[in-house]
Amino acid sequence: MTGNTPAPAKLSKSRFGSTVPSQADLALLSQPLTLPFSGKVIKNRFCKAALSESLAGAQGQFDKDHLDRFVPLYDAWAAGGTGLMLTGNVMVDRTMREMEHNVSVEDSRDLGRLKVWAQTVQKHGAAIYAQISHPGRQTHGHLTENPVAPSAIPVSNFHPLMSFNPPRELTTEEIHSIIARFVKTSEVLYEAGFDGIELHAAHGYLISQFLNPRTNERTHDQYGGSLENRARFLTEIVEGIKKVTPKEFSIGVKLNSVDFGRRRQGGAGGEEEVDEHLEEAVQVAVMLEGLGVDFIEISGGSYESFATGLLDGNGVPDGSPNATTTTTTAGEKKAKKTAASSSTQKREAHFAVFAERISRALKSTKIILTGGFVTASAMADSLKSTNSGTHIDMVGLGRTLCQEPDLPNLILSGAVTGAVRMPKTPGGFFDDVFICGGNIRRMANRKSPVASLGRLAVSCDHYAYSMDYAKVAVHKVKTIFS
Ligand SMILES: Cc1cc2nc3c(=O)[nH]c(=O)nc-3n(C[C@H](O)[C@H](O)[C@H](O)COP(=O)(O)O)c2cc1C
Repeated sequence: MTGNTPAPAKLSKSRFGSTVPSQADLALLSQPLTLPFSGKVIKNRFCKAALSESLAGAQGQFDKDHLDRFVPLYDAWAAGGTGLMLTGNVMVDRTMREMEHNVSVEDSRDLGRLKVWAQTVQKHGAAIYAQISHPGRQTHGHLTENPVAPSAIPVSNFHPLMSFNPPRELTTEEIHSIIARFVKTSEVLYEAGFDGIELHAAHGYLISQFLNPRTNERTHDQYGGSLENRARFLTEIVEGIKKVTPKEFSIGVKLNSVDFGRRRQGGAGGEEEVDEHLEEAVQVAVMLEGLGVDFIEISGGSYESFATGLLDGNGVPDGSPNATTTTTTAGEKKAKKTAASSSTQKREAHFAVFAERISRALKSTKIILTGGFVTASAMADSLKSTNSGTHIDMVGLGRTLCQEPDLPNLILSGAVTGAVRMPKTPGGFFDDVFICGGNIRRMANRKSPVASLGRLAVSCDHYAYSMDYAKVAVHKVKTIFS
């Protein structure tokens, strides 16, 4: 905590929230957190959610040129007060990337540079976890000709700018070798001094594809069918990492709120659906606790749900974006009305109800709740347990930290009510990804992020830089007309 002296609002005077946090709220948000299995102490309750940087080489390389961009970026984020820093997703196989410019860690070729990345964050007293991932079927068509997945089920219902090739089913031997890749990547990151890793088991990537009965229809081996079998890919990765790293190397898992159970045709996403998903999600969380996983980060959505805004909380069982904020535009008023129509959709944090329910089943493993936080009061409130056994232990922030890397410090100074308002964009979360990407690139170039007025410019800048989506669009057009 840096005192209670109001500081001038940064970037814009227009912020979410109407009151600065109370002293009691500040005490909660600044309280250190000890992780149960590794014993690591996180200095406060702010977690920077994983944000794909798109700053590595076009084949996933992490050379000096790339490191020179990661250092200022992570220096800005860590200096901004975040206690637990999750990196953007790091690929375990450079031939299978989610985005063109993802970092890939397959072996120790970049060890020295990875060490510098870790130290950049740790010198500010923050802990750094690499989020490690394999995209499975969710890899862009121009990147991967032949994607792999638990079952040969193509991605459907995705954003018009995206294009994915249909996947083929993995053999059991290939599954074992991907598990070995996750383990190897973790071992290298441990050697590089990272505090831990977070397994990306959310947002429709490979681990999530195994968990989800809609994408895993395997019947012929032990990686499909029962929940225990669908979770085996994940649990064997955790067990493998535990075998090659010491107890102090921490493991977290990002889980989706909607990967469990079978979503009913036309289901409204109300309490009943929560119940359908819940039992399985709780069982997986309990399995992970049994394996010594320090935290579970709760999120939601996948590329398939971009089209319905699921990653933005629309249509999910337990939340609605900005439902508790003092929004004024017509669209926002309509959103509030819709939210109010369901007793389950009242929270600023999209996945709060789901996270709370999972937390009640866990005795030791901590819960990070990510998605939708914009006001300091909602962040603090989420840390207050209202039901017996409920615990949200950290708040995860994504888009807000692309606008203001020092939002945690600003909040802890007692000077601000919340994040700078983000104007609504026609494409919702999809547009935000570009806008955030542009600001990430600015910070990597030692410039301040640009708030509202520069959003379009920032967005174009990002398109021009990575060209990922331009290539995706060209591929898509070719597919349509071939
Ligand atoms: C530019 C951008 C990149 C992202 N990259 C990742 C990623 O690499 N891994 C991941 O799990 N989530 C990723 N996300 C999702 C965020 O971690 C987070 O779950 C989401 O933005 C919701 O949190 P928020 O409402 O605080 O932004 C990304 C989001 C954005 C905007």
